Amino acid sequence: MKHPTRFLIIMCLAGILSSLCIGGISYWFQKQHIIREAKTRSTLILDYINASSGFFEHSQKALVNELLHDTSNFYPELTNGFMLLREISELFATNNSEHNFHLASLNPLNKKNAATRDERRIIEKFRSNPQLQRHDGLIKENGDIFYYIASPVKVTGNFCLNCHGKPEKAPRAQVILYGMDSGYNWQVGDTVSAAIVRVSLQNSIREAKNNAMKLFFISFICFMLSFLALILFFDRG
Ligand code: HEC
Repeated sequence: MKHPTRFLIIMCLAGILSSLCIGGISYWFQKQHIIREAKTRSTLILDYINASSGFFEHSQKALVNELLHDTSNFYPELTNGFMLLREISELFATNNSEHNFHLASLNPLNKKNAATRDERRIIEKFRSNPQLQRHDGLIKENGDIFYYIASPVKVTGNFCLNCHGKPEKAPRAQVILYGMDSGYNWQVGDTVSAAIVRVSLQNSIREAKNNAMKLFFISFICFMLSFLALILFFDRG
């Protein structure tokens, strides 16, 4: 061979470029798969949460209120579906650190339900587009990347204003427990909150990056071995 060094450099560059393409494409496919998987899981969780909430609102709540007789007593753990969801999601999170449910709210009674900056953007999206029933995407928070899916929570009727209308008219026990600063003066029809399920993608994405790197090195070694075999073959010829 006339210029073996030049040939080797060209082949080496071609090997690096092709291996980079293989690694990059593999990473892209893996990421798409991770997002699809996160979407399936979070949709399931959100549907389950909405179904539990629907059952509570339509079947259990009236019965609980009837059994309580004296409705002047304040038992939000028994009569408030939103508190139920929050408490359940906190328990759920203890064993499922990668999944998280938040009833993100713009003006909440309970500060635990206060929306973060990114969640506020999601609620604003629902407010500016009242027909929108579901919204999903990716967000970065504290160095982690999350897939999220959200559905809007609206003030469906005057009934809500018994507790979220004027603070002076809200149950006294509620005002004592949550204060008067936040969670009031809502309007019927307003989108006040979003039920958001998040799935952390950090570990899966790190794994996808590692796999892509491995594939890059393996294909680079394969390319170089094939080129060496070619050089040997032509040298003998
Ligand atoms: C009897 C009083 C009462 C009524 C009626 C009521 N809520 Fe609430 N709501 C509460 C309390 C108390 C909380 C705080 C629960 C917690 O600690 O997480 C709450 C929490 C919420 C939250 C989470 C944000 C926050 O304020 O902390 C949303 C959203 C919400 N309610 C929407 C509604 C809607 C919509 C209706 C009408 C369909 C309604 N509520 C009716 C008492 C009430």
